[in-house]
Formats: sequence, structure tokens, C-alpha cells
Amino acid sequence: MKTTQQTALITGASSGIGYELAKIFAKNGYSLVLVARNADRLNEIATDLRNQHDLEHVVVIGKDLTEPNAAQEVYNEVQGFGLDVNILVNDAGMGEYGAFATETDLDKELAIIQLNVVSLVHLTKLFLKDMVLSNEGKILNLASIVSVMPNPYMAVYGATKAFVLSFTEALRNECKDTNVTITALLPGATNTDFFNKAGAEGTRAHQQAQSADPAKVAQDGFNALMKGKDKIVSGLMNKSQAAASNLLPDTFLSQVVRKLMERPSEDDKSDSSKVPSTASTLVSLAVIAGAIFWGYKKYSKRTLPN
Ligand SMILES: NC(=O)c1ccc[n+]([C@@H]2O[C@H](COP(=O)([O-])OP(=O)(O)OC[C@H]3O[C@@H](n4cnc5c(N)ncnc54)[C@H](OP(=O)(O)O)[C@@H]3O)[C@@H](O)[C@H]2O)c1
Repeated sequence: MKTTQQTALITGASSGIGYELAKIFAKNGYSLVLVARNADRLNEIATDLRNQHDLEHVVVIGKDLTEPNAAQEVYNEVQGFGLDVNILVNDAGMGEYGAFATETDLDKELAIIQLNVVSLVHLTKLFLKDMVLSNEGKILNLASIVSVMPNPYMAVYGATKAFVLSFTEALRNECKDTNVTITALLPGATNTDFFNKAGAEGTRAHQQAQSADPAKVAQDGFNALMKGKDKIVSGLMNKSQAAASNLLPDTFLSQVVRKLMERPSEDDKSDSSKVPSTASTLVSLAVIAGAIFWGYKKYSKRTLPN
């Protein structure tokens, strides 16, 4: 099966940000390899995208990426189809909500590390090698705003996302003399099924997510990937929070994120002004810190030698 179109492989394409990315790649004329556990849903998506766009190939691979051999099996299946993957999107991911010491399930947390970290590393190893050999290719890794700040009540999830960002930035440097680029996408809380699946429904972060459209996050990621950028924080507020994270102490950041990860108390709910005022104070702090950081960067560019 040879293709004249470029091919994008997207993990986590059955819902949320990955699904939105699949639609954007289809609109831009990419052949697709769609990976997730829910093969029925992927087949529905594949049929829709084939009907709407003139795509040479839309291939579905139903796979549980928490299985240790899954990444190698995905790679082998792609080889079997005779497809060259020009773009790899490592989107599949999950979280688990609760206090690490007393509430969360260890097996689920180990599966999260397997999915968010191990399978991402394994897929990157297999496909990046081919990209470097052909001196062409792009990778988009789903990090998160919590890649740059601790994530109480989702401690393991947050740590996996810090890994993804660090890994991406290191590989980017290793590949800088090639035509291969690697980009990290850092969304803030986004309106997908993520919080429900993680058991974090009703938290302030979940409430905040309602106003963040996964289609917009996906478009930001696609644009940054196409431009070969190192990373993109999606959304103005998240950008200022990420900038602020460079300045504020981790103890403070942990407390801010902890507040967001808590469910509002009945008092908070009855006095609806409390939550917005807490949130807006934190956000104002973040914006001020972001502005200081931006000003410092501009100033240091002008005054410091390279
Ligand atoms: N939503 C947010 O607030 C947010 C913020 C920052 C970063 N992110 C990141 O964005 C990425 C996408 O999340 P989302 O928000 O779009 O959530 P989502 O709607 O729950 O999508 C998660 C995707 O991952 C796939 N997946 C989950 N477990 C899998 C497994 N074991 N094997 C293979 N695929 C699996 C799911 O498909 P199946 O269930 O069919 O397997 C689904 O397609 C994740 O990496 C997440 O960490 C999300």
C-alpha cells in the first residue's frame, strides 16, 4: 500500500483532543493511522473522515497501549500496511484523581505510567529512528500545563507530563541538525472526557475545563507542529500561568494547583463569589508574574550577551 499523501499516526484518536487532531489532519489531506482501544469508535471516525475528505488511506489499529508489547505491535502493523509515518502524534493519555497515600489505586497508576510514559517513549524510539534515517518527520507529544508545575491529587499523572516535556525538549536538541522536529503541546484543563475518566469530576479544574474547546487546543498543537516549534501552551491564561511557573516557588504552585484540584465546598457553592475570587486572585498573580517574566526576557535579550 503506497501513498502519495503524507501519513500521520495519532494515538488517542477515539476522543477528545486526539479526535480533533485527526479531523484537522484529515482536512489537511493526510492519510491517517488511528490508534486507541475502542476500535469500533475508531472505525466510525475513519468512515466519516473518508467520506468527508479525499484520503488515500485511513487505517485503524485497536490497541491497549498499557500492554508492554503494544508499541512494537503498532509499529509492526504499520510496516505491514507498507506505510511510512511522516508525523507521529503521541496523544493517548489518562489520569487518576485522589490522594496518593490513601485513595488512588497503584495498579491504575502503574498503567498510567505505562501509557503516558513507556508507550510514548517506545513509539518515539521506533518511529523517530526512521524519521532521522530519512531526515524528515515531525512528532507532537501531549504534555500539559502541569508539566511545569506539581499536580497534587493527580501526582502520578503530573509527573508523567513533566517527563513528556523534558523528554521532548531533550530529543528536540538531539535532532536539531536534522529536518526532524519535535513539539510539545501543553493544554490547560480542557473540555474532554479526561476528568470523568480520572474520577476528577466536579473539581474546580473540571469546572474550568468547560470553557476550553478541545478543537482549539488541537488547532494550536497542529499549527505549532507545522511550524516546527519547540512547544506551545494553548490559551492565554495558561500561557501566563506557564510563564509564572518560572518565577513562583514550587510550594506556592503546588498550593494553587491543589486548590484547583479540590471540589468546591458547600460554602463555596452557596457563596458563588468565593471560587471566582480565589481563581481570579491566582490568575491575576499568574498574569503579573507572566508580565514580569516577559519584560525580563525582553530586557535580558537587549542587554545580555548571547
Ligand atoms: N483534557 C485535559 O484537560 C488535558 C489537559 C492537558 C493534557 N491533556 C492530555 O491530552 C491527551 C488527550 O486527552 P483528552 O483530554 O483528549 O482525553 P480523552 O478524551 O479521555 O482522550 C484520551 C484518549 O486516549 C486513549 N487511551 C486511553 N487509554 C488508552 C490505552 N490504554 N490505550 C490506547 N489508547 C488509550 C483514549 O481512547 P480509548 O479509550 O478508546 O482507548 C482516547 O482516545 C492526554 O495525553 C492528556 O493527558 C488533557
